[in-house]
Amino acid sequence: MTPYLIKVSSQKGGVGKTTFSVNLATSLQEMGNTVLLVDFDIANPSVGFHLGIENQNLGVSDILLKNAKISDVEVPHIPTGLKVIPGSIVGHQKEPSILQIQKFINELKKSRYDYIIFDTAPGYLVPEFSSMCDEGIIITTPELSSCTSCVRLSNNYKKFGLKSNMVINRVKNKRYEIHVKEIEEMFGSKALGVLPESEVVPKSIAMHIPAILLEKRSLFSKAILETANFFPSKSTNTQNYYKRGIISFIIGLFKKER
Ligand SMILES: Nc1ncnc2c1ncn2[C@@H]1O[C@H](COP(=O)(O)OP(=O)(O)O)[C@@H](O)[C@H]1O
Ligand SMILES: [Mg+2]
Repeated sequence: MTPYLIKVSSQKGGVGKTTFSVNLATSLQEMGNTVLLVDFDIANPSVGFHLGIENQNLGVSDILLKNAKISDVEVPHIPTGLKVIPGSIVGHQKEPSILQIQKFINELKKSRYDYIIFDTAPGYLVPEFSSMCDEGIIITTPELSSCTSCVRLSNNYKKFGLKSNMVINRVKNKRYEIHVKEIEEMFGSKALGVLPESEVVPKSIAMHIPAILLEKRSLFSKAILETANFFPSKSTNTQNYYKRGIISFIIGLFKKER
């Protein structure tokens, strides 16, 4: 089976792409899939901060620009069970070419992962990358500027043959917000997920523990798990489902390879 490639994006920065990518990847892994999370925000990588992966010598730019082997760059993240290709914190922040990305994607398509999730930079960085993925998830907040740019991004994806879904994040249910139904009308389809504003998120980032493991019963975690349920579990190993929690995460931290 070839892996299913999901591109997480937005037009605006700071709307929750990395938060969503980390939590969706962890949820899919919890459901028994094998998941690779790629930090594809070349200029501003932050997956490592969310997961507590620091001081890696190699990052995604070494694969793209310096022909490093994927196996030399990917890191097992024992607390979540994910494999992660972190961003390059220093050096080589040059934009990769279409050919360099295509080569990377061809290699990834030969891998054994069920899902590969790309956390990306805001906007259209190398737009042709869209045609190499299976699905786009566009994150928006319930504000007009974020919603309209989300619609523009989705139209751009159509040009590259990429189907996209929308996730609305940081919903506070305030009167000044654009209502979920209105956003869905603008976008032309139902939202894949509606995620509430939640204190669990900054707390989980500060603790380097994905929110869905830190507080599984929070409204934010429930909404992420509901979203992850849209994706079929490709593995027959469903016994892992929801088994790992904060305790196993902490045990994982002690086992963490440095
Ligand atoms: N649902 C949420 N509730 C509260 N804070 C959130 C939520 N989603 C994101 N944030 C906060 O917004 C900031 C930006 O999130 P991040 O995932 O890094 O965005 P992006 O990757 O789009 O730049 C983070 O500091 C995070 O704590
Ligand atoms: Mg980010």
